[in-house]
Amino acid sequence: MKEALETLREEALGRLDHCISEPEIDHLRVEYLGRKGKLTFLLRGLREIPPEERPQVGDQLNRLRSFLEEQIEIRQKELKTRAKERILREERVDITLPGSRWEQGRMHPITLVMDEIVDVFLGMGFEIARGPDIEDDYHNFEALNMPKDHPARDMQDTFFVSQDRLLRTHTSPVQVRVMESRKPPLQIIAPGAVYRHDDDSTHSPMFHQVEGFMVDHHIAFTDLKGVLTHFLRHIFREETGVRFRPSFFPFTEPSAEIDIQCLLCGGKGLTVDQQNCRVCKGSGWLEILGAGMIDPQVFRFVGYDPERFSGFAFGMGVERIAMLKFGIDDIRLFFQNDMRFLRQFT
Ligand code: PHE
Repeated sequence: MKEALETLREEALGRLDHCISEPEIDHLRVEYLGRKGKLTFLLRGLREIPPEERPQVGDQLNRLRSFLEEQIEIRQKELKTRAKERILREERVDITLPGSRWEQGRMHPITLVMDEIVDVFLGMGFEIARGPDIEDDYHNFEALNMPKDHPARDMQDTFFVSQDRLLRTHTSPVQVRVMESRKPPLQIIAPGAVYRHDDDSTHSPMFHQVEGFMVDHHIAFTDLKGVLTHFLRHIFREETGVRFRPSFFPFTEPSAEIDIQCLLCGGKGLTVDQQNCRVCKGSGWLEILGAGMIDPQVFRFVGYDPERFSGFAFGMGVERIAMLKFGIDDIRLFFQNDMRFLRQFT
């Protein structure tokens, strides 16, 4: 009997050692300590033992039972702790690591400036209109008083898509499209991309313009002057000097170019050490806008009576304004998508 107890004890401990999960231990408990278990089986054998030895063996049996129960419990705790440690180890979070950051996107500087320009005109009651980037010869040139072979077409080196189709060289065709489909009064602002065969530090083959025009009875040059002066003081500084200079465009008469006082030298044309200012090249002025009174010929093309209606129109380059505002001296920076450059604008 004593030997049987010893074997059972060794066997149970050996098995317990190999248990690696709780169900396995539960199984083992039933197998040894359960009602039909191995220990219970030995207990039944007590009857065959001489009565005087029974208490002693019974005592041994009971002690083995509590010993095994104890061992099982210890093993169970051990497994629990180990599982917990494993979870702690495997799911460890290093709270000193920098968090994963969400890169926030931002507006392109050209979009920012274009929105700012458009906003000033929306504030004056203008409405937004758009036209196609791929235009026909008629809207881009013909109806703007630039017949085929007119030398003024040379001012805008054109990308042709086919004989009759081209990438618009300016936003002025939107004037024609809006006037063709609507009657005055009109107060329109037309932002968009334009294309010219040109590529250097101040010219890009694709760039942006904002066109504007107003048509009604009795619109005069003074209206043009008031609207654009207000606009320029808003976009640049309130005290910025503005100058209207005679110029020529085939679709406006009279025409003007509008300059602002140089933002770098303040209009002096010179730096502190008496060098020519590099932004205005010494003139003290910066050309910002082309403008004029809409030519009667354009009105005839769109079916307006030039005796009854008059209007002004203007156009400006967004990249040029952005370069002056931000002090950028190469237009190509806008289109190289270098994040270090683009991240600077908010
Ligand atoms: N479309 C002209 C250009 O691109 C600018 C302009 C617009 C001039 C409207 C006068 C009136 O150069």
